[in-house]
Amino acid sequence: MSRPTGLQIALMLVGVAVIFAIDTFAPLDIEIAVLYAVVVIASADFLGRRGILLVCAACVLQTLLSYVIVHSEAFESGPVLRALIGLCAIGIATLAALRNRKAAESLSDQAALLDLTHDAIFVRNGNDVITYWNAGAEKLYGWPRKEALGQKSHALLKTKYLLSAGTMEQLDDSSRWQGELVHTRRDGTEVWVVSRWAMQRDERGRPFATMETNSDITEQKQAEDALRHARSQLEHVTRISTLGELTASIAHEVNQPLAAIVTNGEASLRWLLRDEPNLEEVRSAVERMIGNGRRASDVIARLRALARKSNPSHAVLTLNDIVADVIPLVEREMHNNDVALKVDLQAPAPLVLGDRVQLAQVIINLVVNAIHAMSQIEGRRRLLSITSRTSLEDSTSQMAVLEIEDTGTGIDPKVANNLFAAFYTTKADGMGMGLSISRTIVESHGGSISATSGDRWGALFKIRLPVLQQVEATAAADLLATD
Ligand SMILES: Nc1ncnc2c1ncn2[C@@H]1O[C@H](COP(=O)(O)OP(=O)(O)OP(=O)(O)O)[C@@H](O)[C@H]1O
Ligand SMILES: [Mg+2]
Repeated sequence: MSRPTGLQIALMLVGVAVIFAIDTFAPLDIEIAVLYAVVVIASADFLGRRGILLVCAACVLQTLLSYVIVHSEAFESGPVLRALIGLCAIGIATLAALRNRKAAESLSDQAALLDLTHDAIFVRNGNDVITYWNAGAEKLYGWPRKEALGQKSHALLKTKYLLSAGTMEQLDDSSRWQGELVHTRRDGTEVWVVSRWAMQRDERGRPFATMETNSDITEQKQAEDALRHARSQLEHVTRISTLGELTASIAHEVNQPLAAIVTNGEASLRWLLRDEPNLEEVRSAVERMIGNGRRASDVIARLRALARKSNPSHAVLTLNDIVADVIPLVEREMHNNDVALKVDLQAPAPLVLGDRVQLAQVIINLVVNAIHAMSQIEGRRRLLSITSRTSLEDSTSQMAVLEIEDTGTGIDPKVANNLFAAFYTTKADGMGMGLSISRTIVESHGGSISATSGDRWGALFKIRLPVLQQVEATAAADLLATD
C-alpha cells in the first residue's frame, strides 16, 4: 500500500469538518452523520487498518459532539434515533472498509510472492490488455511494469506461435493451454518460452482474464540447434567418408555405361561408313547410347545427392526406392569381395515418410558393414540378402521392415547392445560411427533399428519405419507440395 498523500489527508479533513458543520449548525431533520460512512469508506483507499479505526473513532466522536451541542437541553427520541442510525452507518462502513483493506492486503501479498519467482507472469483481460506484470516479466522482456500495464500483450511481445495450431480452441475447451512461443523483448531480441495459460472465468463461466506464465528456454533451444547442427555435420562427414570407401565401386558404375557409349558410338560410325549405311542398326546403337548415358547420369545424380550437404527434407517414399538407389553404388564392392546379392522386395511396397538421402546413408552403412563382415569368410557362400516386408504391430499400426542379412562373422550376443554406441568398432580403420548415426536417423523417422545373429551364422539387421496410411500419405504429399 502506498503512503497517503497530503492532498488525500486534507480532502478527508475538509470532508469531516463540512459534515460536522452541517450536522451541528444547520440542523436538518435528516441524519447528516451518515455521510461520515462515505468518508470512512474513502479512507480505506489510502489508509491502513489503524488509520481506518482512527477515522471511525473521529467520526463517532464528532457525531456525539454534534448531538450534545444541538440536543443537550431537551431529550427527544427522534434525534437520538437519527444519531444512532448515523453511528450504525459509521460502524458498518468501518467493518466493510476493514474487510476490503484485508482483501487488498492479501492480494498484494500474493502479488509480491509472484515477484519472487523467476518465471515471467502476467495477466491480460479479455481484450488482451495487460493488467498485471510481475518482476520476472520485467526482467525477461525488459518492459518495466509501469509501461507494460495497459498495453496489448500480443502486440507488445510480438507473439509467434510455434506448436499450437489449435490454441484458442483448446483454451476454450479446458481453460488451459501449454506450448512454445517466441516473444520479442524490448531491445528487439527474440526469446523462446514455454508458455502456460490459465483462463479465469466469472461465476457464469464467461472468461474475463488469462494468466500467462512463461519460462525462458532460449538457451536450451540454442543448445538443441547446435547439437542438431553438429549431428548433421557428423552425418555428412561420415557419409562422404563411406562414399570415399566406395570410390572404386562408383567409378565402375559410371565407367561401365561410358564404355558402352563409346562401343555403341564406334559401331554406329561403322554402320554409317558402309557403302550402304544401315540406319536401322545406327538407330538402335544410338538408343543404347542414350540409355547408357542416362544410367551414368543417374548414378552421378544419386552420388551428388549423397555428397551434398543439405538439410533433411521429408518425402513420401518406399524403402524399396531407397534400396534401388543404393544397389548401383555398392554392386561393384560386392563383386570385388565375392559377395552375392539376393533382393526380395515386397510389391507394392508400403509408403513411409522419410529423407531419401538419410535413409540411403543407413542402408549403405548396413550393406558396407555386411560386406566387411563377409570379406574374410571362407568355406561358405558370401550372401547378402535384402528383404522388405510389412509387419502388423497391432490392429491399427503397420511397420515397413527392411532386413539386411549376411553370412559373415556374426554378432556376439554380449556386444550386440554396444554395436550402436558411438565409436564402438572392431575394425583397425573403423570409426565406429556408422551404426550410431544409422540409429539416430532411423529414430528421428519414428522407427527403430536392431541387430541379431543370423539363424546359422552371420548377422541380421532390421530397420522398422511407421507405414503411412493412404489418407495420411495423401495429406503428407499435399503438405509437402505446398511447403
Ligand atoms: N554385419 C555385421 N556383422 C558383424 N559385425 C558387425 C556387422 N555390422 C557391424 N558390426 C560390428 O559393429 C561395429 C560397429 O559398426 P559401425 O558401422 O558402427 O562402425 P564401423 O563399421 O566399425 O566403422 P565406420 O564408422 O567406418 O562404419 C563394427 O566394428 C563391427 O564390429
Ligand atoms: Mg560401418
